[in-house]
Amino acid sequence: MNPTRSIVDENKDRFLEELISFLKIPSISADSAYKEEVVRAADWLMAQFNSLKMDKVEKFPTKGHPIVYAEKIVDPSLPTILTYGHYDVQPPDPLDLWHSPPFEPVIKDEKIYARGACDDKGQLYMHLKAIEILQRQGELPCNVKFLIEGEEEIGSDNLEHFVQEHKELLKADIILVSDTSMIANDVPSITVGLRGMSYMEVEVTGPNRDLHSGVYGGSIDNPINILCEMIASLKDENGAITIPGFYDKVEELSKTQREFLAERPFDREAYMNDLEVDDLRGESGYSPLERASIRPTLDVNGIWGGYIGEGAKTVLPSKASAKISMRLVPNQVSSEITDLFTEHFLKLAPSTVKVKVRPHHGGEPAVVSTESLGYQAAAKAMEDSFGKTPIPTREGGSIPIVALFQKELGLDTVLMGFGLDSDAIHSPNEHYGVFNYLKGIETIPYFHRHFAELNKG
Ligand code: BES
Ligand code: MN
Ligand code: MN
Repeated sequence: MNPTRSIVDENKDRFLEELISFLKIPSISADSAYKEEVVRAADWLMAQFNSLKMDKVEKFPTKGHPIVYAEKIVDPSLPTILTYGHYDVQPPDPLDLWHSPPFEPVIKDEKIYARGACDDKGQLYMHLKAIEILQRQGELPCNVKFLIEGEEEIGSDNLEHFVQEHKELLKADIILVSDTSMIANDVPSITVGLRGMSYMEVEVTGPNRDLHSGVYGGSIDNPINILCEMIASLKDENGAITIPGFYDKVEELSKTQREFLAERPFDREAYMNDLEVDDLRGESGYSPLERASIRPTLDVNGIWGGYIGEGAKTVLPSKASAKISMRLVPNQVSSEITDLFTEHFLKLAPSTVKVKVRPHHGGEPAVVSTESLGYQAAAKAMEDSFGKTPIPTREGGSIPIVALFQKELGLDTVLMGFGLDSDAIHSPNEHYGVFNYLKGIETIPYFHRHFAELNKG
């Protein structure tokens, strides 16, 4: 067996225990009740970086949660790898659907169950263990910098400012991120595209107070009914989004590009069985994988209003609201889509109601090149550890800082993720395979070596 794999295997139990202690910290960025816990996760990381004997380990406060930065410059003439990750996690609810508490990690059937196990604590921590391995084997082949934020799950607003203000500190040759999925444990892949995002909240107000639905029902327009009509009209019978101008800038892929992406294996039956749905629907003219990666979407994330307590209350509500997100593809611009949505949604409202539209966070889509040295180093690294050439894939999720790194730092990002779509990220019972965790720890040192080699030219 190769020496890197042996170190991984010898240290497997400790690597798992360390991750478990990280996962026990409920660093929920969205919930201000957990502010202290988010800081505790940042401090935990600081301690880990310190024990890796980095030259510099720093915690940068922001208006929100802190950013953790670490670096080790072994030789200024060597290339520098900047690893990005996030130590914050999504809220764990609904709690009653978890088989074990989200912040009391357990290993069951070779999977680590906890909120953040895959997204992104488990994937992020692999990079620290990879540094430990490289150091045991000698000198680091590249300089390393780490930028780990605590606000990815809430839109990375403060990171954007930090990146603009610290261009010199963040100078590097490539950005490395493990915060995406691969196709399957025996089908390695590298993500080459992510969608952007425009996230809106809407509120429809009818009468000035809740009314008796018998006394007023029929004569007064019901804001929940209206909201449903407005939302329903946002897609036509072909599953296309009806907002004028929405598709104007959408990048149309060539036949060859689509055929290439369609080489990714996809088992429609297994996909449906996993989610217990009897059929798949979506924008006509596109396959399910295309609809979830290279095409933009519009989804209601939450909708509320009226009476939702136990039993029946006859009420004609005063207000109804919804959270609506749109996933964007190259070359859509999130602020433009936000404006198009707002203008259109306000126009949809009948004269019986008042409508408010408010944007939440946005983010730009990103495509990364398969030609970069970074991509090539990642492909070689995965070949070393999986014994197979990885397939480039475009994914549907969003990591808005990837476009930002490109714009502000002029740097390519390598999205070398080790999760699986079935890891239930953001859902109850999130988990991360022990195989995936250890495979990541094994692959990353190869990446550092190949990246150093390729840069020698
Ligand atoms: N790691 C995910 C993004 C992801 C997951 C990309 C799987 C590809 C495959 C990230 O933490 C995330 O959840 N991003 C948010 C966007 C953010 C602006 C809240 C998302 O995609 O909803
Ligand atoms: Mn993530
Ligand atoms: Mn996430």
